[in-house]
Amino acid sequence: MQFGLPARSKPVITDPKCVDYDPFDRCCPPPSPKKIVNFKPPPQSSPLRVRRPAHALGPEEARKYARATALMRALPHNHPWNFFRQSNVHCAYCSRSYFQLGHNYPLEIHGTWHFFTWHRAYLYFYERILGKLINDTSFALPFWNWDDPSGMSIPPIYRDHSSSLFNPTRNPDGLKFISLGGCEGNNTLESLPKQRQCNLQVMHRQFISGFKSSLLFFGGQYRAGDRSLPGGGSIEGSPHGPVHLTVGSDMSALETAAQDPIFFAHHGNIDRLWEIWESTPGKKREIFSDNDFLDASFVFWDENKQVVRIRVRDLIDTRKLGYVYEEVPLRWMNIKT
Ligand code: C2O
Repeated sequence: MQFGLPARSKPVITDPKCVDYDPFDRCCPPPSPKKIVNFKPPPQSSPLRVRRPAHALGPEEARKYARATALMRALPHNHPWNFFRQSNVHCAYCSRSYFQLGHNYPLEIHGTWHFFTWHRAYLYFYERILGKLINDTSFALPFWNWDDPSGMSIPPIYRDHSSSLFNPTRNPDGLKFISLGGCEGNNTLESLPKQRQCNLQVMHRQFISGFKSSLLFFGGQYRAGDRSLPGGGSIEGSPHGPVHLTVGSDMSALETAAQDPIFFAHHGNIDRLWEIWESTPGKKREIFSDNDFLDASFVFWDENKQVVRIRVRDLIDTRKLGYVYEEVPLRWMNIKT
């Protein structure tokens, strides 16, 4: 037996050996026959991908996105880029199939300080795979701008029943209004302006409450060997949760959420809120000097058909990852609550 201080502080490392312990789960991606490679940022000379609000996409952009998703859906099931396999990467990281390297604990990225970082990595690879499928190195995912009154319902590109972006399990109320937390109403012409105002207040409150400490914004510390769910950050609570629930069905359960393509636009907006947080003065940023946060790592299939290990420290700057968000008004930033 060894004495001395136990090695307490350690980053969470994903064990690449993915195992579906529950026979009803099929969350694991196809195993990699090759060695896992370490992530390298894309060359800084490649064009920046500009993520735009989903409700403002032009017909050409919308067609392109739907075509890429249709191609992804048409891939054989054993292909790591197949839409269903890609959706299931989310379920694999929800206590289902990945373990922490060297520990007997399932990996659960929700309700922890890796909520924003893991989803950023997931969208990064997903976007590049879609771009690869249509041979477009500047392809960018749209974001669902539900923090603006013009985006507070299911965006038009997701409504067409014949589109690859449609999901039949959604609650039809979302076509009128999406609540960001406690703003439900009867969705009538008279009540909608109030409901939208309520959404703006939720946004303001939740965003500002993450300024006193980055742990409040990001979520609880989660180090190697820690049990799941130390606690989610302010944005993960609301608006993140209520948007999943208001869209309904597939989107409302962790295991199936990413089977609705609107998931990726929802998380585009969540990711954008992190980006806005980064550029807003006055916040505390203490977790960014904690190596247990920065050295945590996850594994993903990439657009070159390799399995890549990416660290949180590679995920902090979206420009280094080759994308930016189009700037749109933040009507909630300075309102009174
Ligand atoms: Cu991984 Cu919106 O949940």
